[in-house]
Amino acid sequence: MATLRMLWMELVLLGVLGVLQTQAQVSVQPDFQQDKFLGRWFSAGLASNSSWFREKKSMLSMCKSVLTPTADGGLNLTSTFLRKNQCETRIMLLQPTGSPGFYRYLSPHSGSTHLVSVVETNYREYALLFTQGAQGPGQDFHMATLYSRTQTPRAELKEKFATFCQARGFTEDAIVFLPRNDKCLKEEE
Ligand SMILES: *[C@@H]1O[C@H](CO)[C@@H](O)[C@H](O)[C@H]1NC(C)=O
Ligand SMILES: *[C@@H]1O[C@H](CO)[C@@H](O)[C@H](O)[C@H]1NC(C)=O
Repeated sequence: MATLRMLWMELVLLGVLGVLQTQAQVSVQPDFQQDKFLGRWFSAGLASNSSWFREKKSMLSMCKSVLTPTADGGLNLTSTFLRKNQCETRIMLLQPTGSPGFYRYLSPHSGSTHLVSVVETNYREYALLFTQGAQGPGQDFHMATLYSRTQTPRAELKEKFATFCQARGFTEDAIVFLPRNDKCLKEEE
């Protein structure tokens, strides 16, 4: 019985350490305030080392994302984007992890888990996000996203994003600044 308990304790501790290690790898905006992070963002830049991204990157355009809080303390990320010349909407529910600015996303399609962190934001102009596959198919990909409150981010912001991506090991050809597509980006909505 005692041995079993020891074994169980070890597993629990390993689990805890595993979580700590995962979180230590990516930093989060200090004193992150989710309520200030809510509202509308435009995905102005993207970098990823996934094979999907390498194939599709030239076809991607800016999308609009609206963040609202969910009952569990996470985020409802509703994105509108252009696909096959039509505007489509997709809802992603980001679950809280207990660390502010750090979320978990379970893909209902692939069954994979992604960890999303808001690495840096000033809330009113930009946010730098880092996403990593944590479990399931495609688990080894990394992705960086530039969120901008406007469709026309300043040059300094693009520069900042490029530096952010390079520091995380993305090669220059893995970084794209997404072109605007007026069809799905009506400002007033
Ligand atoms: C997420 O937000 C969208 C758009 O506001 C809404 O239609 C949907 O019901 C929300 N889903 C959840 C689970 O909160
Ligand atoms: C993406 O980069 C991460 C970190 O360098 C690496 O662990 C992973 O294997 C890479 N994935 C692909 C598909 O190249």
